[in-house]
Amino acid sequence: MSGKLKVESGKLLVEKHVGKIGNSTLNSQLSILKSSIALGHTRWATHGGVTKENAHPHLDCSGNLALVHNGIVENYQELKKSLKKKHKFKSQTDSEVIVHMIEELRGLISSKVEPSTKVQPLKDTVRKVFLKLTGLNAIVVMNDGELVVAKNGSPLVLGIGSGEYLVASDAAALLPHTNKVIFLRDNQMAEITDSGVNIFDIASDEAVTPKVEILNWKIEEANLGGHKHFMIKEIYEQPKVIRNISETYIDQISDLCKVIEKAHGTFFIGAGTAFNACLAGAYLFSKIAKAHVNTIVASEFNYLEHFLHKETLVIALSQSGETIDVIEPLKRAKEKGAKIVAIVNNLGSTIWQMADYKLLLGAGVEMAVASTKAYVSKLSVLILIAYGLVNRLDEGRKLLAEAADEVERLLFEEVENIKKIAKILAVHDHIFTIGRGLSYQTALEAALKMKEVSYIHTEGLAGGELKHGPIALISKGTPCVVFAPNDETHEAIISNATEIKARGGLIIGVGSKKSEVFDEWVQVRDLGDASIICNVIPAQLFGYFLAIEKGLDPDKPRNLAKSVTVK
Ligand code: F6R
Repeated sequence: MSGKLKVESGKLLVEKHVGKIGNSTLNSQLSILKSSIALGHTRWATHGGVTKENAHPHLDCSGNLALVHNGIVENYQELKKSLKKKHKFKSQTDSEVIVHMIEELRGLISSKVEPSTKVQPLKDTVRKVFLKLTGLNAIVVMNDGELVVAKNGSPLVLGIGSGEYLVASDAAALLPHTNKVIFLRDNQMAEITDSGVNIFDIASDEAVTPKVEILNWKIEEANLGGHKHFMIKEIYEQPKVIRNISETYIDQISDLCKVIEKAHGTFFIGAGTAFNACLAGAYLFSKIAKAHVNTIVASEFNYLEHFLHKETLVIALSQSGETIDVIEPLKRAKEKGAKIVAIVNNLGSTIWQMADYKLLLGAGVEMAVASTKAYVSKLSVLILIAYGLVNRLDEGRKLLAEAADEVERLLFEEVENIKKIAKILAVHDHIFTIGRGLSYQTALEAALKMKEVSYIHTEGLAGGELKHGPIALISKGTPCVVFAPNDETHEAIISNATEIKARGGLIIGVGSKKSEVFDEWVQVRDLGDASIICNVIPAQLFGYFLAIEKGLDPDKPRNLAKSVTVK
């Protein structure tokens, strides 16, 4: 659902659509109109269905004040009660409440507002209203050629272009226009007028000196560059990303290792793909560094934080740096005095700002919703940290360089085989992926990548878990992708594959040695602990080719957003 708004001759023009961005039927009729100010938003439905009425921007009763909102106003029902009598609500959203609150406070609701009546400056009203909202929110309010923005928890970044200002919830969106940005901190607001940008602390109302930062991403990274989709472009960028980490991440890894060594109790937290990287981290730390770390999906960390203390270290992994499921527990951990490490891809993001120690992933802009290169960069960094903790950083770097070569080989030499296997998989409704040890998280990540872009139900399992229930689902022809590197897990995972085959399953092996049990096989060179990087590549490609085979857009899977800024 998306909406746009422009001002022409002092009049607000609004256009809203339900559907996919980029769909030709959604072409904007507004594009032919002239205006120096515009506001647009893609809504990810939380309160109220996917309808035009619920799409942003929301207007006040007068139609002169417009708002877009990211986040959830947790106390919206209570706030709405007092407005219902005077104000006409057109949507079921929590967002619309904010615009009516601003209207109410500015005294704009009465049609009899005399022209001479002194209306409070927009910034002052927005500030007062924002202070009344609970939850993590970011808003942009537009009135009379002026924009006021405010943020707490949800992302907001300002772009400084040549003769223009821009506001976005993701810095990557600004890249085609400018690389000069101001990352608003939590509890800050800004007013943007013809004469410039002023930033304020919301609580104290004091002016804040803006810190302008330069994005070191290249504009090409936000373009398709000859590829059909961002997902495949980003998959092919992975060798470069891994090499960069292997060649340049030395001092920062050593510094981080010192921080980890000092901690008493270390946690890895992340969501989705980032959590799968956390799980890899736990195995890598155990195997290479003989160090114990706890890991848990970030959205559950709130309920498992009772033993956090001042010497605990919480390491958050996140591509966007804006995932609310990660931000919330980090806030609580901070309150308990724990120290935070951010391993994120987006400079200036909320998690980046919250952290005591920071490491940038350097994967470059990731545009496809399904994370590929940011995931592989997380694995690369975690391998280096694990080796760094036992003073074997050079060994880790060498391993990464070899992994980059193998990923490159896979992308060129195995791609046709992978495409052929994807065609076989595409007709199925259910796929299983299994692995053990370090490959357990590969199985989870493979399943996530394949299901999110192909909409085929794919379940990732630890090989040993099959016989505890899921094997009941295997019948004639059920495909199972088996991650079988030549390590301590090999024999046991091949046994699990044999158990599936005995029940009619179709076995797709990923590993260095061809086994009799494999019906199809993707050969991946063994690279010890770095095999986790190479083994996930076939799964990323399976996901991509499955989506293509099924006529789906792999870059924008249904129901998903690139930055998950709501709970
Ligand atoms: C899957 C995917 C998601 C994200 C998750 C966390 O391909 O991209 O599972 O990994 O939403 O996002 P970040 O890493 O931005 O915190």
